[in-house]
Amino acid sequence: MAGRSVVVGVGHYLPERVVPNAEFEKTLDTTDEWIRTRSGIERRHFAAEDETTSDLATKAAKAALADAGLTADDIDAIVLATSTADLTFPSAATMVQARLGMTRGFAFDVQAVCAGFVFALSNANALILSGQAKRVLVIGAETFSRIMDWTDRSTCVLFGDGAGALVLEEQEGQGTAQDRGILATDLNSDGRYKDLLYVDGGVSTQSTGHLRMQGNQVFRHAVEKLARTAEVALERAGLTGDDVDWIVPHQANIRIIQGTAKKMGLPMDNVVVTVQDHGNTSAASIPLALSVGKQRGQIKPGDLIVTEAIGGGLAWGAVALRW
Ligand code: ACO
Repeated sequence: MAGRSVVVGVGHYLPERVVPNAEFEKTLDTTDEWIRTRSGIERRHFAAEDETTSDLATKAAKAALADAGLTADDIDAIVLATSTADLTFPSAATMVQARLGMTRGFAFDVQAVCAGFVFALSNANALILSGQAKRVLVIGAETFSRIMDWTDRSTCVLFGDGAGALVLEEQEGQGTAQDRGILATDLNSDGRYKDLLYVDGGVSTQSTGHLRMQGNQVFRHAVEKLARTAEVALERAGLTGDDVDWIVPHQANIRIIQGTAKKMGLPMDNVVVTVQDHGNTSAASIPLALSVGKQRGQIKPGDLIVTEAIGGGLAWGAVALRW
């Protein structure tokens, strides 16, 4: 027998405003065709002026709780992955905690940029396995539209806003790869690559800043590191690519998603793709894809899923789980 962190609920929220690629043709030297062919993105959602990351996160959390048939009283901890919290402090997680009416337990943010949700899942799993929490709400929520340089065509067309959430619950498994729940995780970072992807501002440098990215350099690292981290997570679970029903990748660029699947020896039929509709929503992209994948009828109970993500840091990782 072994404790497992099992997904018992999933949900998401996307802001109402949908911005198609053509919008950018009005203000930038770009085209819908360039954006589609280079990134796979067709549209993205942007939060309203007065809509914050914790607003999106709270709505996604409520959807996940409803899906699980649970209330905030059933939750012991909230782990929220974001790089775009409402305030410098308190954490967006504690703001969500209050909005849900949750008066016990604990809540905190995790910041690993686009890999944030994988890091949050891994930490939530550790809290459950160490007996510190029985049920954890794991949220990825971002308003990357707030850190775009709208004059930089090489970045501002790629990102979007949104939120997704999972409820993890401790359940007993047999200790085999047939168990439902998180089977293995793999986390990595290498701070020497800071200059490839960063925001040129922050509290200690006294500004908000804008996202800066050497996209083609990030691309060079992405496919190899993502395929490798996914393989490591699978190996730790005693599995291989052949066992995978769904790759649920971070949704940054369709060419990275295709390249990673190919390197793992899996066809695109086994990949949940939402990048065309959401753009890159950083830490929100994986829970959004899990929620949409379930809604579409792609992800079913018992399916073996591997999630993988890479982002600023560089930070990257993967989680192998059975739905
Ligand atoms: N419209 C038209 N032309 C453009 C645009 C645009 N929106 N943006 C850039 N270009 C131009 C460039 O200026 C360049 O022109 P030049 O050759 O005259 O200098 C040309 O297109 C090619 O630029 P590249 O950057 O080499 O294009 P590439 O094929 O690499 O695609 C992209 C760019 C889409 C950014 C890609 O590199 C990518 O997706 N990289 C990875 C991004 C990523 O995964 N980030 C990680 C997660 S994000 C996070 O952690 C926050």
